[in-house]
Amino acid sequence: MKYVLAPLAGFTDAPFRRLCHEGGADLTYTEMVSAAGLAHGSSPTQHLLETMDGEGPVAVQLFGATESDLAYATRYIEESFVRRSTFNLQPSALFTEVNLNAGCPMTKVTREGAGAKLIEDPEKIYRLLKAMVENTSLPVTLKTRLGPHPRKTNIFEIVDAAEKAGAKGLVLHARYTSQMHGGEVHLDRLREVVDRARIPVTGNGSVVDAKTAAAMAETGVGAIMIGRAALARPFIFSELKMYESTSTSRFDCFRAHLKYLLEFRDILARKYPNDHIPSPDAFASVKMHVHLFRYFNGRPGAAELRRRLNQVRSLDEIDEAISTLGMV
Ligand SMILES: Cc1cc2nc3c(=O)[nH]c(=O)nc-3n(C[C@H](O)[C@H](O)[C@H](O)COP(=O)(O)O)c2cc1C
Repeated sequence: MKYVLAPLAGFTDAPFRRLCHEGGADLTYTEMVSAAGLAHGSSPTQHLLETMDGEGPVAVQLFGATESDLAYATRYIEESFVRRSTFNLQPSALFTEVNLNAGCPMTKVTREGAGAKLIEDPEKIYRLLKAMVENTSLPVTLKTRLGPHPRKTNIFEIVDAAEKAGAKGLVLHARYTSQMHGGEVHLDRLREVVDRARIPVTGNGSVVDAKTAAAMAETGVGAIMIGRAALARPFIFSELKMYESTSTSRFDCFRAHLKYLLEFRDILARKYPNDHIPSPDAFASVKMHVHLFRYFNGRPGAAELRRRLNQVRSLDEIDEAISTLGMV
């Protein structure tokens, strides 16, 4: 499976993208960049397009509401960031793809007619994407949601519009605009979209560990995009790949570690019968406080789990505390 770092405004700057690339992301995204800002020559907006050495493939995401802004911004990226060889044969790009944001639910974006506002108007998505396709040599892709709210699932019209405009890929956050960034991720709908679409589909929405990644992979998506779970955990991409190739998760490592510790305690107890080697419960609890709790750092609910693990006094209590966890 391919793993992609999601665009996160205020977070996915060049240094963090570089870390995520090192942490196994196959593709990373800039945060959303205002097409109008580029059209007006805004220098802070231009800064968002800067990359640094060591970054892997980066998709640049634009948001905007007019064909002229998006055409300008896409051309600006083409002219400023797509390098051509001396013989002008193969464009070699710092950016590998230009993406249109049709999913951001924030009022400051939607009130201008951009982001998730576009979901209500597939025909407009078609026009905006077409304006982008006509102004770049890079593949143009779309990031969107299922529809404005659960009573209106218009993703299928949106996919048709995107394909007709020449988009080369779709990223689907499998939620509705009304859900913002919470609530159920509709994997059944995502699967329908994958089945119908002719362009590759990347799935997105609350993938946080191997269990949620496996559930999303089952929909048939070609890639999985991860946002919030990568914050302060840029190696999540490698972790998930390691789990796929070896079926070894942090949870499995933890279990193996605990097993070896108990075996080692028995060795000590046998060899030094007069040395009051702690009981298995006490031995495991002490190691848990010092060392083992770290296996669960960075996962959702880690702070609460850490608090509980700090109090365990027996193997049963350890079992109980971690019984609610998934695979990674
Ligand atoms: C703080 C924050 C900033 C975001 N910024 C963007 C953005 O700039 N462009 C975009 O398309 N989506 C943006 N999103 C949505 C994410 O890309 C992603 O679709 C969403 O968080 C669901 O994925 P996750 O559950 O893996 O985080 C943002 C989400 C958050 C929480």
